[in-house]
Amino acid sequence: MAAGIRSVVNVPVMHAQNIKDPVQAARALESGLIDFVGMTRAHIADPHLITKVKLGQTDQIRQCVGANYCIDRQYQGIDVLCIQNAATSREGKVPHIISKTDGPIRKVVVVGGGPGGMEAARVCAERGHNVTLFEKNATLGGQISLAAKAPQREQIAGITRWFELELRRLGVNLVFDVTADESVIMAENPDVVVLAVGGKPFINQQPEWGGDDGLITSTWDILSGAVEPGKNVVIYDTICEFAGMSVADYLAAKGSLVEIVTDDIKPGVAVGGTSFPTYYRSLYERDVVMTPDLVLESVYREGDKLIARFENEYTGVREERVVDQVIVENGVRPDESLYYALKEGSRNHGRWILMPCLPSSHSLHSMKVAATCSTASVIAAPSAIFTQPSTTRCVCLKICKPRRGSGYVDSPDRPNAGRRRSPFYRRCVPAYPYLAAG
Ligand SMILES: Cc1cc2nc3c(=O)[nH]c(=O)nc-3n(C[C@H](O)[C@H](O)[C@H](O)COP(=O)(O)O)c2cc1C
Ligand code: SF4
Repeated sequence: MAAGIRSVVNVPVMHAQNIKDPVQAARALESGLIDFVGMTRAHIADPHLITKVKLGQTDQIRQCVGANYCIDRQYQGIDVLCIQNAATSREGKVPHIISKTDGPIRKVVVVGGGPGGMEAARVCAERGHNVTLFEKNATLGGQISLAAKAPQREQIAGITRWFELELRRLGVNLVFDVTADESVIMAENPDVVVLAVGGKPFINQQPEWGGDDGLITSTWDILSGAVEPGKNVVIYDTICEFAGMSVADYLAAKGSLVEIVTDDIKPGVAVGGTSFPTYYRSLYERDVVMTPDLVLESVYREGDKLIARFENEYTGVREERVVDQVIVENGVRPDESLYYALKEGSRNHGRWILMPCLPSSHSLHSMKVAATCSTASVIAAPSAIFTQPSTTRCVCLKICKPRRGSGYVDSPDRPNAGRRRSPFYRRCVPAYPYLAAG
């Protein structure tokens, strides 16, 4: 578009949208199609982009992954953080450039190769420490790898690519396919242990949901491919962030008939302002029914079907869904077993301490330092540095995309088309009919 404008005007023309790296920028300029490039998010993700170009370190540039976490926060009137660069907007406390330690070099063991573990390993290695990272899977990424499997979110895999390049450049010893328990960790004779083991989907919070009886499925199981998508699916989402929306989109794209139900005021209510329109557009186009205000009471089997019983938050009226699959997105519960296994033998008994030997507290940003082992080890449990990983398109899509003319047309191929009510709906049969009869 910028090139088209340039061909008909006599003033210099700048293109400012989605230029992620200097190679792309140079190509656009060298082709003569435009006179300038504007790069906003590229500099939020890596404020040292220009310096790295000057130093010939373009392969060390942390490329923006288009998640729009930054601008979504701006719209909320809060600080402009970056989903992948923990130092952005926290420069007063967290430096972008990490200095080498002038103290002793420590042996650091990091457990878990998700974003928290990768960042901990990177910072410790930048400080000059000797770092080993254990990951139980065959690849780095943790939840980023899962999230990147959903439609519209492929780009966030770039977060892991950059970390992996950096960890290899810094000489971090990456150990895959190993579940690091107490003995594996202690065999390393570490000075410092950083726990970044993540957690598990919290789908067994209510026993009546049937999580322990295998009646419900997690969003992780769907995205990882561990569980095949059902034909008629209800998703119950208490979190209303990306996971639920992503899985609804993912399943509908695969041909499932999907309803997403929440106890909140609308599905995806916690997804940022530039991101939720792309989801809503896609979900409406794929005939996903979105239902607010229902609390999941219980799930039970009836023949070859699953029945999800809901209660309206405001009226108390119960209703049911007759489906093949019930997916529950209820957040993640941290797995603290390793922390408690190591805590007792630690020097600081799980309390936060400042560690002059380590990256200074501002460098080990966003981590809760948890314990120091009797073997002089320190255990840290990083909290999630990166929240809401997502990939979105530009907000102006909302304005630019032509509107649908005459709405949806019912057809046997689209049994959900045009519906705003659940195709799985069933009136709830009262458990105590004499009560219903008054
Ligand atoms: C955090 C943030 C704040 C922005 N604030 C403004 C603004 O105040 N006015 C404006 O015209 N554009 C604003 N933009 C849009 C950018 O100038 C730019 O057009 C957009 O981010 C697309 O370019 P990019 O792909 O290089 O980021 C903002 C973008 C971001 C990410
Ligand atoms: S939050 Fe996402 S879009 Fe914004 S700069 Fe960081 S990577 Fe880019």
